[in-house]
Amino acid sequence: MFPPDTLLPQLTSVCVCVCVCVCVCVFCVAEKPAKKPLKKPIVKKVPMDIAMVIDSSNNIGRRRFSLQKNFVSKLVATLRVGPTGPHIGLIQASDSPRTEFLLTNYTQPKDLLFAIRELAYVGGDTNTGKAIMHTAETFFVQERGGRRGHPRVMVVLVDGWPSDDLEQAGKFARDSGINVFLVSVAKPAPDELPMVRDKDFMKKAVCKDNGFFNYMIPSWFSTTKHIKTLSQRLCSLDGLLCSKTCYNSVNIGFLIDGSSSVGEANFQLVLDFLAGIANGFDISDVGAHIGAVQFTYDQRLEFGLFDHSKKEDALNAVKRIPYMSGGTATGAAILYTAEKLFKRAGPGRNFLVLVTDGQSYDDVGNPALIVQKQGITIYSVGVAWAPMEDLKVMASEPKDSHTFFTREFTGLADLVPLLVRGICRDFTEKN
Ligand SMILES: *[C@@H]1O[C@H](CO)[C@@H](O)[C@H](O)[C@H]1NC(C)=O
Repeated sequence: MFPPDTLLPQLTSVCVCVCVCVCVCVFCVAEKPAKKPLKKPIVKKVPMDIAMVIDSSNNIGRRRFSLQKNFVSKLVATLRVGPTGPHIGLIQASDSPRTEFLLTNYTQPKDLLFAIRELAYVGGDTNTGKAIMHTAETFFVQERGGRRGHPRVMVVLVDGWPSDDLEQAGKFARDSGINVFLVSVAKPAPDELPMVRDKDFMKKAVCKDNGFFNYMIPSWFSTTKHIKTLSQRLCSLDGLLCSKTCYNSVNIGFLIDGSSSVGEANFQLVLDFLAGIANGFDISDVGAHIGAVQFTYDQRLEFGLFDHSKKEDALNAVKRIPYMSGGTATGAAILYTAEKLFKRAGPGRNFLVLVTDGQSYDDVGNPALIVQKQGITIYSVGVAWAPMEDLKVMASEPKDSHTFFTREFTGLADLVPLLVRGICRDFTEKN
């Protein structure tokens, strides 16, 4: 086909080309087991759920909005998103928050980066507080792709300062076990300061004001050099102190008086009361745990802290405890519970809720003290003939907030929220 004088150069170039290719390939293959390792990733692959809340207000403007997208893309690229790594969703903050995509929409880095590039600028006020609240309330639920037992992180980007209040939203996020990181870019200028509603907004949005959860970047033009530090912070599991809340990490033992004076019908009211308390917590294999012991002169382990991994099963187990009937030896029962129920539990978040309707035949003071020294906080709840003096002796300090009394068994139901709140308050003070 080709005239000979044109064929030769063609052949030569094909040949050179093939040669180069083969050489490169051989080179590649030869290099494969090689000295030069893959570029070391900046962060470990941590399976957590991350909500990116970005600023889409008038304040930031189109130009900086686009710089923000670049920054978020680079941050996301270092985080090693994937089915077994972090999941990332995104919310835009403006007048009203706008959820752009959920945690499970894009679990491949390239899809996620594409989605970020496609984000449209909204405009409006910087209602960051509203966006944090909305995200904390709706974003991490299981129906929308939140993974149970995975750390929850919210990265909130603010250009300058927010136009609404962050304190309430920050508190709600903290109580929900979400680690809020506030990344504030470009401080307000001195002449803008009078417009800033709350000068302490940086501290108030985050779950712990220890410096770890705040990040300041001076300008949108210098964000790249902060990617490494910020992504390492997000991925340091030890730093994510806010994942643990009273709701998802306490161990609660119920110690139930099954003596004859209680009676079958009232015993059921006691069980309803305890199930009510249990219902206030996120019980699961990775969450809060409950267990129960019933006592007369004797003691019976009804079920242990790790016997039920589903909340429903745990609540049913409480409601179905069969009534024993007999005498009352509360002191011995307290020691038994510490030994049988809390043996395998870690320290620092153990609670014992003791319900009794009368005087104990044995000493309660020493056993209660021994158990408290093991790190178990005791709440004593008395009904009918239970002597206030004994209740106080058994309860943890401060006695007044750990002792409850009701004349009638029907009064127990009103105590449920007080007990739940008390346990949460103790937990927060210790952690
Ligand atoms: C994300 O996933 C949800 C639920 O699966 C779906 O309803 C929604 O349309 C998805 N959004 C996008 C942007 O793909």
